[in-house]
Amino acid sequence: MQKAGPLDTGEIAQTMKTIKTKFAIMSGKGGVGKSFVTASLALGFAMRGYRIGVLDADVYGPTVPKLLGLVGANLYLSEDEKIIPAEGPFGIKVVSMDFLLPTEDTAVIWRGPLVDRAIKDFLGSVLWGDLDALFIDLPPGTGDAPLTIAQTLANEMTGSIIVTAPSDVSKRIVQKAIDFSRKVKIPIVGIIENMCCFYCPESGKTYYVFGRLIGKEMADKYGVPYLGMVPLDPRIGESNDLGEPFLMKYSTSDTARAIFSIVDTVIAMYKDKLEAKTETPTKKQIKSLLKLPGEEEGEGES
Ligand SMILES: Nc1ncnc2c1ncn2[C@@H]1O[C@H](COP(=O)(O)OP(=O)(O)OP(=O)(O)O)[C@@H](O)[C@H]1O
Ligand SMILES: [Mg+2]
Repeated sequence: MQKAGPLDTGEIAQTMKTIKTKFAIMSGKGGVGKSFVTASLALGFAMRGYRIGVLDADVYGPTVPKLLGLVGANLYLSEDEKIIPAEGPFGIKVVSMDFLLPTEDTAVIWRGPLVDRAIKDFLGSVLWGDLDALFIDLPPGTGDAPLTIAQTLANEMTGSIIVTAPSDVSKRIVQKAIDFSRKVKIPIVGIIENMCCFYCPESGKTYYVFGRLIGKEMADKYGVPYLGMVPLDPRIGESNDLGEPFLMKYSTSDTARAIFSIVDTVIAMYKDKLEAKTETPTKKQIKSLLKLPGEEEGEGES
């Protein structure tokens, strides 16, 4: 049922050797905010001054360009026919199937082997350049499509970041994602519990809209790090629709703070691999745009 063809990973390794860390974002089911988390982690790292790339490997439902405000962007070929990624905010390099689809509504109906081919082509010929981190948005679930892609990438991956939502029914889903990551031999970076709750600005109360939090319990059970929780914010949908990345627009919101806290946790975990950042043009650009949470106070969720 789940077969993986022989993997020609030499070319992929070659094109990715200038990338220091590579993270696959996965989930046991769809709709938990995996793409939002991918785009937000990428932005968070970039706003901290790191050189970042994003591969939207969700060939069936590519959404990352939209979340990074890159709708209508194009991929170009270099003289030697390599793919030049599109550039998003803070110079984030983005490669997505979305850039190749004629209209926003075009459905991708490829079968597994073609997807495998496309991903290998993408990964074997993208000019990523020197990057500190690449975030890869995998297709949802643990079926054939994510499996083929994860297996193709497994040797290159630094680790997987598992995104879940609260509620007891999600426990099984987290377990599936953990099994999946272990099966394809990608080390688990940790679990993020997205849509954990809603902090009502009017009443000051916290509402657990989707049910009981399970992320920490599951992380402890499976012996993997709990990276943190991200609250609901209704302005995320609005930002997406406007093509204005939420993390940039609402950089001091509770949700953005939670994301920056997770970003800093992951940076701390991989600080040996990531270059320490000092002053770079990107950082200056960030400072003129935003007040970064964590610069004035050490507050954050965990
Ligand atoms: N913390 C949050 N608060 C409010 N809305 C959110 C949050 N996280 C994600 N969303 C919204 O939930 C929806 C699903 O998010 P997203 O597309 O990132 O999920 P996904 O897991 O990638 O889905 P798919 O399985 O379809 O790829 C989107 O409309 C997104 O804007
Ligand atoms: Mg998605």
